[in-house]
Amino acid sequence: MCGIVGYVGQREAADVLLDGLSRLEYRGYDSAGIAVFENEIIKVAKSKGRLADLQAKMQKEGKPSGHAGIGHTRWATHGEPSDRNSHPHGGGNVTLVHNGIIENYKKLKEFLLSKGRKFESDTDTEVIAQLLDYYYEEHHGNPVEAIVKTLKELEGSYALGIVFADFPDRVFAMRKESPLIVGIGENECFIASDMTAILKYTKNYYLLEPGEIAVLSRQGAKVYNLHYQKIEKELKTADWDVSAAEKGGYEHYMLKEIHEQPESIKKTITPRIENGLPNLEECGITPEKLLEFNKIHIVACGTAMHAGMVGKYVIEKLAKISVNVDIASEFRYREPLVGEGDLVIVISQSGETADSLAALRLSKELGAKTLAIVNAKGSSIAREADMLIYTHAGPEIAVASTKAYMVQIAVMYLFAFELALANKKIDETECRRLTALLQGTPDKISEILEHKEMTQLIASELITADSLLYIGRGLDYALSMEGSLKLKEISYIHSESYAAGELKHGTISLITENMPVIAVATQQNLFDKTISNIKEVKARGARVVLVSRESYQPEKDVADFKFGLPDYEDLLMPMLAVVPLQLIAYYTAVLKGTDVDKPRNLAKSVTVE
Ligand code: G6P
Repeated sequence: MCGIVGYVGQREAADVLLDGLSRLEYRGYDSAGIAVFENEIIKVAKSKGRLADLQAKMQKEGKPSGHAGIGHTRWATHGEPSDRNSHPHGGGNVTLVHNGIIENYKKLKEFLLSKGRKFESDTDTEVIAQLLDYYYEEHHGNPVEAIVKTLKELEGSYALGIVFADFPDRVFAMRKESPLIVGIGENECFIASDMTAILKYTKNYYLLEPGEIAVLSRQGAKVYNLHYQKIEKELKTADWDVSAAEKGGYEHYMLKEIHEQPESIKKTITPRIENGLPNLEECGITPEKLLEFNKIHIVACGTAMHAGMVGKYVIEKLAKISVNVDIASEFRYREPLVGEGDLVIVISQSGETADSLAALRLSKELGAKTLAIVNAKGSSIAREADMLIYTHAGPEIAVASTKAYMVQIAVMYLFAFELALANKKIDETECRRLTALLQGTPDKISEILEHKEMTQLIASELITADSLLYIGRGLDYALSMEGSLKLKEISYIHSESYAAGELKHGTISLITENMPVIAVATQQNLFDKTISNIKEVKARGARVVLVSRESYQPEKDVADFKFGLPDYEDLLMPMLAVVPLQLIAYYTAVLKGTDVDKPRNLAKSVTVE
């Protein structure tokens, strides 16, 4: 949801900013812009569209040259994507970039209009710039005091990168809800919405807390609180290296990330297994603690919610505890029946999704204990939860999530195993057996990735379809939700997932030869039932793709295409079966020529509701 960067140092600022923005484009790509001090004058270059459009524009009109500046890549909220609405926005002495939403911008705009201020865009961001400039004048040119005064007026979520015309060797920054880090290099400092933007230059950073203001110069960064008091910050070091955020020879980040899944699983589960059994103590989870919970709620958005669906099936099956799965935006407004004695698990790759964060806060208010399963270190959800399991997928750049989902479900399994053992629904021998099987999944996934040609053939069959159905039963149904989302978000082909047994209650009327059906059938006890459902759609003309075990041989003509999976424990089949579903979506999008890593209208980190 918008990416921001800032730089002050000896390098050519525009290059650092553009490079940083190229790594943040996953956060939004409706427009891009930079502001750089050139000979002590702020020069702004901005353009609707991708970063490439901005670069093309600068090639014609010139690139600002200097050593301090700010940059932005936008996911439009207030005001359509246009040159006029692109960031940076200015007001007098102030030029700034913004990530987030200002909820009371109308009221503030009216106030500023009454003071004779003029506006050039439809954005809430310009209101911040004008207000800040207004207070800057009132505070006789003290930028930090003006920032403090402005922030007290703003309602909503925001992170800001700011330059003042009077301070050509400084970059100012602040955050409320939206994430922001301050990178510290040698004689240079950075700001960025996330670490991937500046990893190339430094691994050292301060994590800005909500309400903190940073002032960056070549000499370093000073951080203040809202009382204008200086704060000592702990310097952190990122454990990601640059290659983690590069394509490494793959055509797209998404394909690279699909291939990284075996490694991501190992990194996530290995430190949490001791003597062959799950051990989540370092995450604040002990068997005794687990026994305190009567009910479990899983709350998340998008792909993370689908990981929660797999979690529900696995926890209920093994630990015999009832699990509700909720979409965070619904949960937070429907007066959920959550309270003391309940555990609310919030799953999130970014750890910043506005609705998931609000659901977490609400759960705490209602007296529940919260557990976060998060990939991004130091993110808001990670910091606010009572218990925390980090997934170690490393940076996920493609907007369509793959490896983050994989490790989210890997954690769901570990958690379910530990819970089932704690409440004696499985014994230690069974827990060891399941844990060993979980440890075996990376090799099985590597095997699948070596034989992926069939997914390309299937994709070539799907590109002419306008609409598709994914069907499955039990865990296969939970999985087909994710398969369907992957396909529609990147290939723009409409698709829905359906519980295979539910089709005949309405949806089957949609089936024609133009609506292919992807059937997932990995669960032995449900295989024959799903095959019956496949026959029903086949009889109505559908082309069928079957994702199932290699060893299952349905009668001839049941499926037009089959992707065969290695035989494995039923319970763990989702970890294997999701891989061909991801690849089918990927190759379909590639064949359709869409922007695979940055599908239209989407953003990876959704920090507005
Ligand atoms: C966005 C992304 C999805 C993601 C969802 C939840 O919609 O495009 O890929 O699943 O947000 O994000 P989170 O960071 O909370 O997992």
